Parts: sequence; C-alpha cells; structure tokens
Amino acid sequence: MNAEEMKRAAAARAAELVRDGMRLGLGTGSTARHFVAILGEKVRAGLKVVCVPTSEATRLQAEAEGIPLTTLDETPALDLTVDGADELDDSLRLIKGGGGALLREKIVAAASRRMVVIADGSKHVDVLGRFPLPIEVNPFGLRATQEAIAQVLAQRWPSAPLTLRRGGDGNPFVTDGGHFILDAALQRIEEPEALASDLVAIPGVVEHGLFLGLASGAVIATEAGLVELGE
Ligand code: 5RP
Repeated sequence: MNAEEMKRAAAARAAELVRDGMRLGLGTGSTARHFVAILGEKVRAGLKVVCVPTSEATRLQAEAEGIPLTTLDETPALDLTVDGADELDDSLRLIKGGGGALLREKIVAAASRRMVVIADGSKHVDVLGRFPLPIEVNPFGLRATQEAIAQVLAQRWPSAPLTLRRGGDGNPFVTDGGHFILDAALQRIEEPEALASDLVAIPGVVEHGLFLGLASGAVIATEAGLVELGE
C-alpha cells in the first residue's frame, strides 16, 4: 500500500464507527479528506448525521459531498470527531497543526465525547517532537510574543529554531481565525504537559499543537495492516 492507500484504509475503518443520528466533528488534512469523502458516500446512501468542520477547506469539501453541516453554537456537544495528526505516541498524545487548523481542531475535539485519530504508520512515534510544533499566535505584538516563546523554549531547548510559517506567496500564513503560526523545531518533547502549560501562559499565544488527553482512540494503517490504539 502507498501512503494514500494507508490513509484511506484508516479513514474507512473510522467510518465504520459512525452511526445514524451522530453529531460528528470533521478533521482537516489529507487523511481527514479521505474520511469526509467516505462519509459523503454514506450520506448519499441515506446515513443521517450532522457535522462540524474544523476548517474552511473541510467545510467546502463537506458541502460539495452533500454532508449536512452545523456549528458548535447550534450543536455544542458532539459524539465523535475523526481527524488526522502530524504525530501521535502510544499514550495518544498528538502534535497537530501541520495544516494550520489546530485551533478549530482543538475546540471541536474538546467538544466531542470521543476523538479518533486516523493516520498512516509514519505518524506513530516513540517521543513527540520530530515534527515541528505549531504555535498559533495573534498577529498583534508578533515579535514580543515570539521572543516570549523563545525564552520559554530556551529553558529546555537552548537553540531550537522558531520560524514564522509562510504561505506559497512568501507572506505569513494566516489561519482561518486570522492568526499566524510559529513552528518550533524541538526534535524531542519529553514532557509535553509541562511545555503545554508554559505555552498557554504566554499572552499572544492563541493555541498550540499539543493535543493532550483529547484523543480516545487511533486507527493507524501500516504495511502489516491496521493497528488500533485506545477505544
Ligand atoms: C491540520 C492537522 C492535520 O490533521 C495534520 O496536519 C495531518 O495532516 P495530514 O493528514 O495531511 O498528514 O493537524 O491542522
């Protein structure tokens, strides 16, 4: 199986968890895209669900698939969110935000009774951190916020690069919420909980890509078959 086939296999397994009448969160990224496509097929075959998308890109795809959408204002509690991840460990701790949707992804995951991660085996790691950690910041005071983050990181990572994410046009990448993203190349995050609480204490930090205690299960597609973690 190539990477796309593995993503699709994980998405198809997660789609088996969906039941009639469920309120769903729809993730963002190339793996979540497979889930939304499979869900669209089921909806057209008669499945009844309502869904909250975690990005404008997912909203557009879901609309094109004919999937009924709602908002967290109308539907504040969800049954299940299915989303991809940039990294996950055996304790279902995640790095997310490679696609820039981490803020809405985290709000939607937190509103869900159950969050299932879908991924190919390359995302499954022993220690988080090889994937640069996305940190979403308010554009106001960018430089001051960046320096405050760098000071916090320097306590454990004396020379970790912290880079403003840019789009293809060379301008800063802007999230759906109108924020910027700083990517921190940390290599190994031995204590994600400690880092998470340090980051949220910095004014100007809107959210970070450490998802801790949010995922309840994972479907990981490998060459040897599907591996399931959690519930
Ligand atoms: C977007 C995300 C994605 O879930 C993450 O980047 C994984 O994407 P992909 O499935 O394309 O590898 O967090 O913000």
